[in-house]
Amino acid sequence: MGEPFPIDAVRAMPKAELHVHLEGTVDATTLLMLAERHGVQPPAEDVEGVDEWYRFDGFPMFLERYFTVLGLIRTPDDFRLIAERYLTAASEQGVVHTEFHVSATGHIVENSKEWGPIHDGIVAGCTAATAATGMSWGLIPDISPHLPAADCLEAMKTVFAHDTTYLAAAGMGGPADTWTTDDFVPIFDLARSVGIPAVSHAGEHGGADEVRFAVEQFGAVRIQHGIGAAQDPDVLQLLVDRDIACDVCPGSNLALAAVGSAAEHPLPTMLAAGVTITLGSDDPPMFQTRLLDEYERAWQWAGLSLDGVRALCRNSLERSFAPREQVDDWLAVLGAG
Ligand code: ADE
Ligand code: ZN
Repeated sequence: MGEPFPIDAVRAMPKAELHVHLEGTVDATTLLMLAERHGVQPPAEDVEGVDEWYRFDGFPMFLERYFTVLGLIRTPDDFRLIAERYLTAASEQGVVHTEFHVSATGHIVENSKEWGPIHDGIVAGCTAATAATGMSWGLIPDISPHLPAADCLEAMKTVFAHDTTYLAAAGMGGPADTWTTDDFVPIFDLARSVGIPAVSHAGEHGGADEVRFAVEQFGAVRIQHGIGAAQDPDVLQLLVDRDIACDVCPGSNLALAAVGSAAEHPLPTMLAAGVTITLGSDDPPMFQTRLLDEYERAWQWAGLSLDGVRALCRNSLERSFAPREQVDDWLAVLGAG
């Protein structure tokens, strides 16, 4: 056993969370409330049952249940509620800024919803949370490639046609199987043409080639997960050379068996290679985690010192899309070390 994790000191460090999915922040209590609100049979009767249902034998089972949860988030008020709850919970973890994914194509393509009311509900929830906590935030509407690229493109056109003030980036989540058989590149080109950068999940369950593809084809400037990069020193070097951060979620990787054990997690390898790392909680209640738990895992798995933790907090602030003056203010509070 190493040094005990200094949770209060780490909570006090200003930090950004750059890898979390709004729909994945729905805890058991909220899920049951949404099911009741919409007269839908919940996947389990009580909180304990839902918490048990939030345990997965792998990525496909997780995705199936994730999309079930997504289907329970229907009205602008649902979005307002979960956004406000997530931001409030994140603030309690010492988060001063968050950029969170919203599964845009899940709602628009699969559930036939319009983006405008979803967006406006989320903005209302975030605005209320900001008034209470002072946090800042941005949205990452994302596509999932289990849907045809043409459908994703149409959906994202409607996203970009609405108010883009609060969009931090355009993202890619879900499985990576169809990346090379369908053409998702124009979606990220379109995003850039309206001033919105690209980020992408890659190398979560797949290998280093996925990370290279996301960087070279999608033009992703941050990679969610990216742990597969550790399988190829050239791809680690690509991330270093292009100064691309990986938003790593150790608890998620363990919960979805992307790694077999903590000892096999490539976080130490990625840090040693000089890759810029930020930590995220991905889908916190679904993985029985919170952001500070992720910092504790990093502390243990990579043998970090308090300065090492501070460096991860600094990365998260610097790699966010928040305005530079704002980042400098947070960094001044975070301090050197
Ligand atoms: N959507 C929500 N969580 C995800 C994950 N861990 N990987 C890919 N897509 C996701
Ligand atoms: Zn994710």
